[in-house]
Amino acid sequence: MLAVSAVSQSPDDPLSGLAVTQRPEPSVPDGWTTVAVRAAALNHHDLFSLRGVGLPADRLPMILGCDAAGVSADGEDVIVHAVVGDPAAGGGDETLDPRRSLLSELHQGTLAEVVTVPRRNLVPKPASLSFEEAACLPTAWLTAYRMVVNRAGLPPAGGGTVLVQGAGGGVSTAAIMIAKAAGHTVFVTSREASKRERAIKIGADGAFESGARLPVKVDAVIETVGAATWAHSVRALRPGGRIVCAGATSGANPPAELNRIFFLQLSVIGSTMGTRDELADLATLADRVGLRPLIADVRPLADARASFAQLAGGEVFGKLVLTV
Ligand SMILES: NC(=O)c1ccc[n+]([C@@H]2O[C@H](COP(=O)([O-])OP(=O)(O)OC[C@H]3O[C@@H](n4cnc5c(N)ncnc54)[C@H](OP(=O)(O)O)[C@@H]3O)[C@@H](O)[C@H]2O)c1
Repeated sequence: MLAVSAVSQSPDDPLSGLAVTQRPEPSVPDGWTTVAVRAAALNHHDLFSLRGVGLPADRLPMILGCDAAGVSADGEDVIVHAVVGDPAAGGGDETLDPRRSLLSELHQGTLAEVVTVPRRNLVPKPASLSFEEAACLPTAWLTAYRMVVNRAGLPPAGGGTVLVQGAGGGVSTAAIMIAKAAGHTVFVTSREASKRERAIKIGADGAFESGARLPVKVDAVIETVGAATWAHSVRALRPGGRIVCAGATSGANPPAELNRIFFLQLSVIGSTMGTRDELADLATLADRVGLRPLIADVRPLADARASFAQLAGGEVFGKLVLTV
């Protein structure tokens, strides 16, 4: 089958280790099943794997990709949940299983004609979502959903105020749209005027330069940028507010600002991916309120290298999708 793999790793030239070649179909262990992939989406995670972050070299060659939607062995249209873990080992939450992994870390990933996954990782695809749209949900969108809906402590009925840092990223664009759908006021920051304008177009109530003073203090910050925006995130919160952090693209070790954290009784909450049930809830929400992932570009799987070059270039607004 055609597949997109990491065959070597380079921190400075990640695309040098990318191969779009024929690979054997993975074997199917007990309790697992196959999905004929119709669409798969790229994430920063795929570039990190090519840079040698989070994927030990002794696991190469590894088929990349966490996100996919396709047709199950039973002929059902499905979305693939990317977290391979045991809910029982995580107190009912597979993302807290100490041995959990994401597809393409331990098991072959989704950028292929066929992917093999645990049977419980299949979520029904709503008919209203295209395969391309559905393929965007399992990583960036699920991460944003858990952050906004279940980790940020925002009022369930809406009416909260939230800041999303780094408006252009995949998680950030999803967080803006999910927070708006949930009835909250959404502020964003971006270094680029064009991304600020586009954030307003997808629903943000206010868009500001990175580090700018906001009109009001916010209840929660959705933080994936890390070092470059951390001090601003801490200053943007009302007393008792929460920073929900799922990434650190610009660096993982900013000054912690402990004086503000304790004096204003702020909470710093880590968040990673989401459960299978949260993915099912997200798909239901998207179907019910007409929420659609923002897709920047769609290409055939065979042209994956061009999509990876776009991702590495950092100018993308929304998700990059590959179709089979
Ligand atoms: N924990 C999880 O489960 C999980 C899931 C998905 C992603 N992640 C992580 O979340 C992060 C975001 O991933 P992504 O794919 O959404 O997007 P991304 O392409 O990494 O971009 C995120 C945004 O960060 C901003 N940014 C980057 N460098 C910056 C800098 N030096 N100064 C200020 N802003 C900067 C940019 O915003 P502007 O250009 O608009 O300013 C960019 O749009 C990554 O680190 C990823 O690994 C984690």
